[in-house]
Amino acid sequence: MKEQIAKIDKAASYIMDIIKDTPKIAIILGSGLGPLAQIIEDQTAVDYADIPGFPRSTVQGHEGRLISGRLGNKKILAMKGRFHYYEGYDMDKVIMPVRIFKKMGINELIVTNAAGGVNLLFKPGDIMIITDHIGFNCPSPLRGENINDFGERFPDMSSCYDKQLIKTAKTCADSLGMDIKKGVYSYSKGPMFETPAEIRALRLLGADAVGMSTVPEVITANHMKMRVLGISCITNMAAGILDQPLTHEEVMETAKTVEDSFCAYMKEIITRW
Ligand code: HPA
Repeated sequence: MKEQIAKIDKAASYIMDIIKDTPKIAIILGSGLGPLAQIIEDQTAVDYADIPGFPRSTVQGHEGRLISGRLGNKKILAMKGRFHYYEGYDMDKVIMPVRIFKKMGINELIVTNAAGGVNLLFKPGDIMIITDHIGFNCPSPLRGENINDFGERFPDMSSCYDKQLIKTAKTCADSLGMDIKKGVYSYSKGPMFETPAEIRALRLLGADAVGMSTVPEVITANHMKMRVLGISCITNMAAGILDQPLTHEEVMETAKTVEDSFCAYMKEIITRW
C-alpha cells in the first residue's frame, strides 16, 4: 500500500516538475478523440514512457502522452491514450493516472469515450452527456485495503457525475446548436463487443450506451471526491441493432467525423466551467 502511494507521489512530482502550475481540469481522451489535444495552446507534452511507474498504452487510436496547456481560458491536462482492463492491465494501473491527477492538486475531471448506442433513438455521431453508469460488469478498482489518504472505505456513488457540470454541458451544447443526448453508460470489460442478447439485457437495465472504459476512472475520481463530467461519442449502434458486424474501424471512422464538433464542444465546456 505504502509502495503504491509512493509510486503515485513520484509520478505526480515528475509531471509537476515539467508542467509547473497545477492544471484546473484533467481530461481523459477516448478512442479517436485524441485530436482535441491539437487545439491546446502553449503545450507541454510528457511521454508516458518517461513518467516513473506509469503504464503504457497499447491500443490503436491511443497515444501515450500527457499534454498540458491552455484551452479556452483554463489550464488543462489532457491524457492522450488511456489504459483499459482489456489490454491486460490490473485495475490499479487503469486508475493510476486519476490518482496522480488528484495528487497533483487537480479536482476536476472530464472523462470522454467512444461508446456503442444502446438507446434506439441514438445514432452514430451523437454526443451523450453521461448522467450515471452501470458498473456491475466492472471489476472494482477499489478492491483491497482502502487507502484512507484517497477516500473512505465505502464511498457513496449517488452522484458520480456532477449535476452542475451536466447542466453546464447541456447549456454549452444548446448554445452551439448541438442535438445533445443524455444517458446512462454501461461498462463492458471487452475487448470483444457485446452480443445482441447482452445489449437487449443492458437496455432493459436502463443503459443508453456501452463502452469499455470510463467507469473505473469515475469510481476512483468519486472515491477521491473529484468533480466529474462524462461525455460519450456514440460511434456505432451496439450489437444486434443494425444488421451489420461491429468493428473498431467503424468506431474510429465515426469518431473522426465528429472530431471538429467534439473539439468545439469541449472548448466551450471548459471555457464556461
Ligand atoms: N461496445 C463496447 N465498446 C464500444 C462500442 C460498443 O459497441 N463502441 C465503442 N466502444
